[in-house]
Amino acid sequence: MAKVRELDEQYVAGTYGRFPVELASGQGSLVRDFDGKEYIDMGSGIAVTGFGVADGAWVAAVTEQLGRIQHSSNLYYTEPCARLAEQLCQRTGLKKVFFSNSGAEANECAIKVARKYAMERRGPEHYHIITLRNSFHGRTLTTLAATGQDAFHRLFQPLTPGFLHVEAGDLAGLRRLTEDYPCAAVMVEPVQGEGGVLPLSPEFFQGAEALCREKDLLLIVDEVQTGNGRSGQLYAFQHYGVSPDVVTTAKGLGGGLPIGATLLGEKAQNVLGRGDHGSTFGGNPVACAGALNILSRIDEALLAQVREKSAYIFSELEGAPGVKGVSGLGLMIGIQTEKPAGEVLAACREAGVLCLTAKDRLRLLPALNIPFPLLERAVDVIRAACA
Ligand SMILES: Cc1ncc(COP(=O)(O)O)c(C=O)c1O
Repeated sequence: MAKVRELDEQYVAGTYGRFPVELASGQGSLVRDFDGKEYIDMGSGIAVTGFGVADGAWVAAVTEQLGRIQHSSNLYYTEPCARLAEQLCQRTGLKKVFFSNSGAEANECAIKVARKYAMERRGPEHYHIITLRNSFHGRTLTTLAATGQDAFHRLFQPLTPGFLHVEAGDLAGLRRLTEDYPCAAVMVEPVQGEGGVLPLSPEFFQGAEALCREKDLLLIVDEVQTGNGRSGQLYAFQHYGVSPDVVTTAKGLGGGLPIGATLLGEKAQNVLGRGDHGSTFGGNPVACAGALNILSRIDEALLAQVREKSAYIFSELEGAPGVKGVSGLGLMIGIQTEKPAGEVLAACREAGVLCLTAKDRLRLLPALNIPFPLLERAVDVIRAACA
């Protein structure tokens, strides 16, 4: 570990505050460091490994595709890409998919779609996109501009112009912005993940949808973190009874290989034409074969388990000593602690449980299929660390 840490600190750009753990291997929700110390993984690589690490079915799907053809460029048709797009559309009601490699790229595509849609219908000044304060949409200059947190903006000016921000829940403020500026779209996360695991209220989400319909703005739903079963539905918008025009996702879709997907509904499906957008690796057959395996296993039985495990975590932690509040949806949970969240995180790690933080909260994003006995052990450790 000492050697790896030294090398990393010398040669890898210092953009991450890494924990003092070097993960070497694992199985499912158990991961091990190089000294053989075992941890229960309550973070899933930040909502990526929805079926844990080294998951046999996913490894088999990926390696089978690796042995056939690992890449072909988007100049040719490949089966995993076409089948994954079909599955995503059939299971969401959206119509077409653009594949990329990350959440930020999925959002970039959504923003391009919204701008072209509005420009062609109402003119080029209709480029404004409204997002929420405290949101997180990615780290490229445009998705940073979409991110409604000044702290991320300060050092990188000028960002892409045309983004406006309103407080989550403030429907009147949202309407005012659409009246004061020529707009193209409204973009929201159903649960603000990086912002502290804060779900939107149904009234606000549904009100934003109604406003988008009234003004012919595209409703873009960022499901990069909430998607792919994490919320207890395949996509979190399905809890709210809204019909987005564009849904973006990444993270858990790939199960651990990079993939981003921008799902386009009725209005958005034909906005981008030949040459308007592209990606060398987007739709890569290996990533798509893995994603097809993941998606095929996020069925009603698994989603019911996600909801059951979520209810268990809420019931164990709400009102527990040292816990001020619990928020979230499905297996995306934020815990407001009396002690600083970083202190609780470190105590959990010492006791063999890997958690995350989001803003001032402890954050849990366990694998969707974490076995109940492991979940119980992890929750006992978290309770003790909070007290
Ligand atoms: C809601 C949301 N959107 C976008 C992103 C950016 O995704 P990526 O890091 O894959 O670019 C994230 C990452 O945490 C996210 O949570």
